[in-house]
Formats: sequence, structure tokens, C-alpha cells
Amino acid sequence: MPHPDHEKNRATWNKQVDLHVYHKEYKTKEVIAGGSSLKQIELDALGDVRGKSLLHLMCQFGLDTLSWARQGARVTGVDISERSVEVAREITQQAGLQAEFVRSDVLDLIGRIDKQFDIVYQSYGTHIWLSDLFQWAKVVAQYLKPGGTFYMIDEHPVNILFLPREEDYPPDYFATEPERTLNPNDYCEQDVHIEGEEHVEWQHPVSKIVNALIEAGLTIERLDEYNYYYYKYGPDWIPYAGHDGFWLPPDGKPATYPLMLAVKARK
Ligand SMILES: C[S@@+](CC[C@H](N)C(=O)[O-])C[C@H]1O[C@@H](n2cnc3c(N)ncnc32)[C@H](O)[C@@H]1O
Repeated sequence: MPHPDHEKNRATWNKQVDLHVYHKEYKTKEVIAGGSSLKQIELDALGDVRGKSLLHLMCQFGLDTLSWARQGARVTGVDISERSVEVAREITQQAGLQAEFVRSDVLDLIGRIDKQFDIVYQSYGTHIWLSDLFQWAKVVAQYLKPGGTFYMIDEHPVNILFLPREEDYPPDYFATEPERTLNPNDYCEQDVHIEGEEHVEWQHPVSKIVNALIEAGLTIERLDEYNYYYYKYGPDWIPYAGHDGFWLPPDGKPATYPLMLAVKARK
């Protein structure tokens, strides 16, 4: 049975694809022209991927997936949004690359892909969309070969305590109920609303992310925290000189609290 809240998110993500695919926040044109959407952090974390198989969970329209293909990996991307997957396949053709894309809720993936991978990867804006991190970690473990590497980089859960929030949702690091937002602000065009649609997001403390992976049988190899962010969170945020693709809060200084979290684990 599809998860009803994930289905609401699917409808909203479907509507966002055409708004975002050629937006300046996304490197779609660069990827088609031979470039990459990957940032130095994940390139350094995964190193040489040539000849390795890589599963990209929650891949959107596949820019990172295709960028890993350009680094030499054999790639498969998964996303819940059928419009994302359609556009990912179009971009693959335009870029002249090889990639497979599968439309699936990540929590329902088991049985839909019948191989295992050297690397499972997930980036920037993913864990908040998942209602059940323990099921998510089972999926990660299921699709990793023994000895394979899992890597995720995302927003840090603690930033909920520091960044400006919807008034209806006072910060609660340990919140167990999801946050439901109608007509959410688009994250690229902050004055654009996705009319009539609901975003349902879950707050997962760091302990839950890490413990879910451990319970699924993975060994945590590294956990890193960063005091800068992966997109322009508000209109006054400032590009971080020397850190391509990253942003600083409006005072132009690295934050005094963590904004991003990265976890590397091995099966
Ligand atoms: C912010 S985007 C992640 C983009 C990522 N930084 C990238 O470029 O690869 C979040 C993506 O997660 C997908 N998504 C949300 N819930 C999902 C779920 N339950 N299963 C699979 N994909 C999901 C959305 O459709 C969307 O494309």
C-alpha cells in the first residue's frame, strides 16, 4: 500500500519538476554540456568511482546520478516522482550518458531492483521526506554489496532549532509528528507557492539516522558536520567564497551551529 503522506509529497514534487529543471539553482545545462552537479565534499568522500555500481536514492531529475556516471560509475537513480524520472531520462539522452531510472518510493524499493551496488548515495534534501528511517536503512543495507559504501550528505537535523521556521511549527528537535504545510514556499523561488498541495516532513534526530543504519547492519565510518549550507536558504544568504555551491547565513560568517551532516558507512 502506498504511504498516503508520501503520495501527497509525490504530487507536490511532480509539480515542482518543470519549475526547477532549468532554474539557476540547478546545473542541468552544465550537466547536459559535459559538466557536473557534484560538490567537492561528496567527490572527496567517495573518491574514484570508475567501474563501480552506484545507486542514487531520491535522485530528483538525476543531475548527481549523471554526474557520477560522468565520473565513471554505472548508475541507477530512484525517485518517487514520475515526472522527475521522465525528465531524468530525457537529460540522460541529451547528455549522451548511460543511466537507469526507477520510479519508486524508497521505502517500497525492495523487490523492484534485483541487484546490489558498490555504493548507495543520497544527497541534499532527502531524509525529511521519509516517514520511517528504520525501513529506509533496511533498503540501504539490502542494496549494498557486502563491503559496499553508503554515503549521505544532507541538512543537519539540529538546524531546525536555529533557522527561521513556519510559525505553526515551533522548533522541536525530537518531534515525532510530521509537519504538514499547505502551499509551501518553493525553495528556489521563495515567493512562489505550489498551490493546493501539501508537504509532509519528518524531523529525524542525528541519533535516529545513525542508529537506523547501525540496526540495519552497517558500520559507521565517519560523521561530519558543516557550518555552511547547500542552498540559498533565504534571500540574504551569501555565496561562500572558495566553497563552490555552498552558502553562508546573512552575516557572511560560518554558522556557530551545524547546518549540514554527512555520514559514511560500510556494509
Ligand atoms: C530535494 S530533492 C533531492 C535532490 C538531490 N539533491 C539531487 O539532486 O539528487 C528530493 C527528492 O526526493 C524525492 N522523494 C521524496 N520522497 C520520496 C520517497 N519517499 N521516495 C523516493 N523519493 C522521494 C522527491 O521526488 C525529490 O525529487
